[in-house]
Amino acid sequence: DKGEFKHYMLKEIYEQPDAVARTLEMAIDNRQASALRDDFLARNEAQLSGVQHVQIIACGTSYHAGMVAKYWFESLMRLSCSVEVASEFRYRNPVVLDNSLVICISQSGETADTLSALREIKKQNPAGLVSLALCNVPTSSLVRETDIFLPTLAGPEIGVASTKAFTTQLVALMLLVLKTGAVQQRIDSANLSTLLGELQKLPGQLYASLHLDAPIKAMAEHFEDKKSCLFLGRGLQFPIALEGALKLKEISYIHAEGYAAGELKHGPLALVDKDMPIVVLAPKDSMLDKLKANMQEVHARHGELFVFASEDSHINAEDRLHVVYVKAVCETLAPIVYSVPIQLLSYHVAVMRGTDVDQPRNLAKSVTVE
Ligand code: M6R
Repeated sequence: DKGEFKHYMLKEIYEQPDAVARTLEMAIDNRQASALRDDFLARNEAQLSGVQHVQIIACGTSYHAGMVAKYWFESLMRLSCSVEVASEFRYRNPVVLDNSLVICISQSGETADTLSALREIKKQNPAGLVSLALCNVPTSSLVRETDIFLPTLAGPEIGVASTKAFTTQLVALMLLVLKTGAVQQRIDSANLSTLLGELQKLPGQLYASLHLDAPIKAMAEHFEDKKSCLFLGRGLQFPIALEGALKLKEISYIHAEGYAAGELKHGPLALVDKDMPIVVLAPKDSMLDKLKANMQEVHARHGELFVFASEDSHINAEDRLHVVYVKAVCETLAPIVYSVPIQLLSYHVAVMRGTDVDQPRNLAKSVTVE
């Protein structure tokens, strides 16, 4: 039931604060916020303690969640992590290192390529293999075929465009990083308690992002008649730029590409003209100055910029530079909060263009054939 909402996608976008809060409760007890709950992945501690490498496999939006997790595993834990789309991984005879934790991320748990990639790895049978399903459907094939089940508690997702499944995947992945980091003593207790504190602010921060609906809708009007669009981000926001582009093309049928902003000069800058909108994800983080330089490169070539910026980022609106300000958020968790504005932008553009938002042409919710 869509209730008061015009589309399932919009309903699911608005369910994110609650879905994230539910997912957090798996691991964080409100009364004791400075440590993980004793029962979170308690039975899997021995498995997690032996992990020396992480291999993430997924498709589409779930793959973008995996890309964020790679940054987290490597920067917070110094644990090496590879991430690959399942459709490539399964066919290239990949090397799976001993003592790998293989994380398969899938909303449905029935994606054919992800399941086949997992089976391929199990066939290789590397020493110390631990497989984990990060999945929204407890009864799915993926959950049955893996050693560990880490649920996302998003509730059923009906819209083909994934929204709340993505943000809850990110939250669950962060919880997994913290658990593995704690078990392996690669994250100290001060860091752990800071991040746990920041995680608890997330539902409120997601509500704040939802309040940006009106200015984002106004921004969307500029996209209605556009043919092509770029999404730029750096670091943890690069996967969110990819996700923004996927969302826009999937439901509005406007061609969109996500790019690491540092790659602009290596090709896409040639595309920039007054007719191509460029969306920029600009939280206040260690990459902001570099990102501002990239924005300048676009502006100088008369590109029109649409920026989601932190309110303390000192980015001001000017001619051909539109800004929607997002509340300040800690750098590590910013990709979760910045997912909401890109979802709302795509949604409003699609509605203005009159497409079938919940059931875009040629796509299925669950891709059970390759
Ligand atoms: O169920 P899964 O997470 O395995 O699905 C993977 C992709 O098919 C899915 O994320 C797809 O990219 C979405 N429709 C994007 O919004």
